[in-house]
Amino acid sequence: MHRQYGDFVRMGPNQISIVNLDVFNKIHGPQTRCSKKHAGTYDINRFRGEYNLDTLTDNALHRDRRKVWDQALNTKSLEGYESTTRAVIHDWLGRLDEVQGLPIDTSLYAKLIPFDNMGRVGFSTDFATVKEGREDRMLRMIEISFDVVARMGLVPWPLAFSQDLPRMGLQKEFEELAVRMTDMRIQADSEDKHDIMKFFLEDLHSEKPKTLKNINAVYADAAAVLIGATDTIACALGFLFYYLARDADLRQRLYDAIAPAYGKRTPGEFACIDLQAIEFLDAVINETLRMNTSVPINGPRNTPPEGVEVDGTYIPGNVSVYTPLHLYHRSPKYFVQPDEFIPERWTTRPELVLERRAFQPFHFGRYDCVGKRLARNVIRLTAAYTLWHYDFAFAPGEDGKDFESRAQWKAIVKPGKLECVFRKRER
Ligand code: HEM
Repeated sequence: MHRQYGDFVRMGPNQISIVNLDVFNKIHGPQTRCSKKHAGTYDINRFRGEYNLDTLTDNALHRDRRKVWDQALNTKSLEGYESTTRAVIHDWLGRLDEVQGLPIDTSLYAKLIPFDNMGRVGFSTDFATVKEGREDRMLRMIEISFDVVARMGLVPWPLAFSQDLPRMGLQKEFEELAVRMTDMRIQADSEDKHDIMKFFLEDLHSEKPKTLKNINAVYADAAAVLIGATDTIACALGFLFYYLARDADLRQRLYDAIAPAYGKRTPGEFACIDLQAIEFLDAVINETLRMNTSVPINGPRNTPPEGVEVDGTYIPGNVSVYTPLHLYHRSPKYFVQPDEFIPERWTTRPELVLERRAFQPFHFGRYDCVGKRLARNVIRLTAAYTLWHYDFAFAPGEDGKDFESRAQWKAIVKPGKLECVFRKRER
């Protein structure tokens, strides 16, 4: 529709989709008067009556909640999670050792790795799905929690009604899962635990909680950890495996780029601080996130009562504005050859990026992704360890066609199956 009608597409009586960078900045930038409030997606979503960080639309309440999350995901906390993520990746390498030479579905493991990582980093729980190579029912529950919102699309009002009705089916199970994970974590609490829940519980149990004032609010944020930290990274890793598996030259160049970081600080290991400095690794990751951003449409924002004026176009008040990230990433206005995977646009060929600000996989402004640095660490570590120890390619009979054509475009993109064969590198 944007190809046919241009930057502004009215999708419903009160909804507009916009692909225009000036508008993007005006809607999401620091001075914005646009809000998540009454935009039709966020504040109709409660968990036992409470909002999580993503669905809190009141600025002051969001700011207080964000402080707790920021503490849980700041540089110091991330340093503590690094060995935890490494443990998951060692499980992955162990699994590869067992299945060497046999085809495996990389899209499945792209999901299990962040899932196990979320269990450990979020709740100090080992789901052990990577070790066993099995898809846990919990993953389906996480997916379904988003499906409901996605299926409603531009008609979210039935959700508002259903909020006060008892939950059913997988949605009910998902709610119970977040409660169970939290309760188990509380029971197992001890001084030595270092995970995201630690920061939520510290606030809950403090004399004057800043934001998590009752257990239902903690359950709501626990659910946000389950959702936020799994399928999003799964999409990025799934596509990263795909781009690497189809291109031997890319694998070799990336292998050469990461080699100097191996064992630099600890024998036999990679460290995030070294991987962060590898320009080509980040270029490959950025290009993956540009081509297939995990959250392709993203939730809308509501214009303030006085409306918004941009570029001579007036958008009235109380309109839900969508700025679909995928369309910014693939627009020829912002990227040369936008549908081509060219990692060098982030390194030696900057002329292929016309507008750097149009690349926003983790969004921008007050509500940007609080877990972006954790996500990048998981992706960097997975890419480096996998490539260092294994070379891999499409399995015989795999052409990668189903992988893209069967990808499901939901609130979070779910890549199709991809059979690959891994072979240990001889040194
Ligand atoms: C590749 C991985 C990831 C991508 C592409 C991604 C993308 C995004 C995007 C686009 C938003 C904005 C959503 C909106 O406007 O409603 C967002 C917000 C959020 N993300 Fe992520 N995310 C990723 C990983 C994570 C991880 C690992 C966590 C948790 C540890 C997380 C937790 C959240 C939360 C809680 C918010 C709401 C932030 C707020 O409103 O202040 N995300 N993410």
